[in-house]
Amino acid sequence: MPIEINAPDYVKHAKALEFVKEAVELCQPDQIHWCDGSEEEYQQLCELLVSKGTFKKLNSDKRPNSFLALSDPTDVARVEDRTYICTRRRQSAGPTNNWVDPREMKQTLKTLFTGCMQGRTMYIVPFSMGPLGSDIAQIGIEISDSPYVAVNMKIMTRMGKKVFDVLGTHGEFVPCMHSVGSPLSPGQEDVSWPCNKEKYIVHYPEERQIWSFGSGYGGNALLGKKCFALRIASMMGRDEGWMAEHMLIAGVESPDGRKNYVGAAFPSACGKTNFAMLIPPEAYQQAGWKVTTIGDDIAWLKPGADGQLYAINPEAGFFGVAPGTSYDSNPNAMESIRANTIFTNVALTPDGDVWWEGMTKEAPPELIDWQGQPWTPDSGRKAAHPNARFTAPASQCPSIDEKWEDPAGVPISAFIFGGRRPSVVPLITQAVNWNFGVYNAATIGSETTAAAAGKVGEVRRDPMAMLPFCGYHMGDYFNHWLEMGRSVPIPPRIFCVNWFRKNEDGEFLWPGFGENMRILEWIVKRVRGEAFALESPLGWMPRYEDLNWEGLDFTQEQFEQVMRIDREQWKEEVLSHQALFDKLYDRLPKEFLLMRELILSSLWRSPENWGMSPERYLVQQH
Ligand code: GTP
Ligand code: SPV
Ligand code: MN
Repeated sequence: MPIEINAPDYVKHAKALEFVKEAVELCQPDQIHWCDGSEEEYQQLCELLVSKGTFKKLNSDKRPNSFLALSDPTDVARVEDRTYICTRRRQSAGPTNNWVDPREMKQTLKTLFTGCMQGRTMYIVPFSMGPLGSDIAQIGIEISDSPYVAVNMKIMTRMGKKVFDVLGTHGEFVPCMHSVGSPLSPGQEDVSWPCNKEKYIVHYPEERQIWSFGSGYGGNALLGKKCFALRIASMMGRDEGWMAEHMLIAGVESPDGRKNYVGAAFPSACGKTNFAMLIPPEAYQQAGWKVTTIGDDIAWLKPGADGQLYAINPEAGFFGVAPGTSYDSNPNAMESIRANTIFTNVALTPDGDVWWEGMTKEAPPELIDWQGQPWTPDSGRKAAHPNARFTAPASQCPSIDEKWEDPAGVPISAFIFGGRRPSVVPLITQAVNWNFGVYNAATIGSETTAAAAGKVGEVRRDPMAMLPFCGYHMGDYFNHWLEMGRSVPIPPRIFCVNWFRKNEDGEFLWPGFGENMRILEWIVKRVRGEAFALESPLGWMPRYEDLNWEGLDFTQEQFEQVMRIDREQWKEEVLSHQALFDKLYDRLPKEFLLMRELILSSLWRSPENWGMSPERYLVQQH
């Protein structure tokens, strides 16, 4: 006999009640917990997680109200090869997504989910992506057997009772089913991080449904994030004329008080959090420049009445990469995680605080590593997992923008795209127009990182940093981008950056981090029509003298190295775009083939003709 669902009386939504009832029948949990999103509930769930051994409470003096979770070593990142887009027709998912016929997948999942919550509590987690009641926001209900998921969702989304108030009796919601896939038989002892070897992260974009099985980690389990806010929302956006993008949103205020907002898409673990919380160099601060944060991972964008695109951050917290985060690299992130934070897979210090590679120059002499083992600096292994993360409320970020919860969103003046490219790609270019910008964004590539399971360090094409996150055919997605350019009167200007170019010795050519402000200033001034640029085969580029170098020792020679466009390399680069286009052939915008030819042909113009002295931005002469 399935247990009673015992819905609280504020739940008046027949479909939501039906969803829960069916989930109870299928998953057969022992108990049910309707999350109200209150502070008391959060504390109770954290205590429960401590008693189960999933959480360790950190030292309250050093890290108030904060916890450490160590995952199963096999459950540490998104599993792209187990992620499915199940559309009725295979073509709708496209060749870059794993596809299974939805009827077949539903059978598979039905078997896996039957009885999957035996011995466990089912949590009903109602959440809003975006400020409650915003026109751009959307509602979901996640059903999960993981209290770890429930507390993370409390930080990452607007979660709880108030969502049902907005939902009323007939509001729309996306049903999200999640199980760690580890039922307990009577008397069986639980492990600290239950999960299942077999994992399925499944999306039915046409039905707007998500089913996730077997993993408790990050984007696999916090279903509001990649599954809803990117994969499902990207298809909603295509159908309804808006956009869901893997973008940070930041505000830039110049000394005269004028402010512009930018959206920037970099692949996973390629610097969105750093850029979103950028601290301008001393000279800029003195002059009165400010950078503010709206979001660090996802942007939802809708055309506004004034002809601009308006963006909200659908999330309420940061699920950021810990390793490499320090008071040097990202002080705003460090301040955001001083308290009320959940850490996953970082190391524990003897005094009950956390540590990870790159947090301090010198490692502490002893730690407990992310696998719970004693660790010393000469252990020869990493103390924190490379994809270890913190979950922290966005409201704790010192640079949070005053409009970060504005239901109307903020107008976006520029889109910035960047991958992790050790060679070939220059520091900064501006596309000559929207269509070329879409082409450039579609062909960005990146070295693979630890944010996804698999090989690290290979270059792969990652269109708009959305390769793992687009819920439909990538070729259709490009067409949607082109269509937005036709329908939005004042679309953002499009820029490409590469912070990761290296010299022969493998050293970064560009200091990056706060110094990226110099590039951001040029971008904002270009948008305002106030900065000079030269024409190049790849678009507009600043000259050395067009950037502000105050307080940084960076020579013209260094600049030219990091801006260099090498004809031979670019010939190969542009020709290699064809491999992506061939893959997407059936839905590829025909414009792309023509633009590829135009870029290729402009590589043969002599540098004098693109307004540069030949010794600048050296293109090899033949
Ligand atoms: P997800 O949360 O996975 O979507 O990723 P993210 O884009 O927010 O990643 P994050 O900001 O955590 O990326 C961190 C990585 O980028 C670290 O390896 C940093 O060292 C590196 N990084 C960030 N900014 C810069 C920069 O300006 N220059 C260089 N060289 N590295 C940078
Ligand atoms: C990413 O991988 O791009 C993330 C982390 O932002 S996760 O939420 O796990 O997908
Ligand atoms: Mn991300």
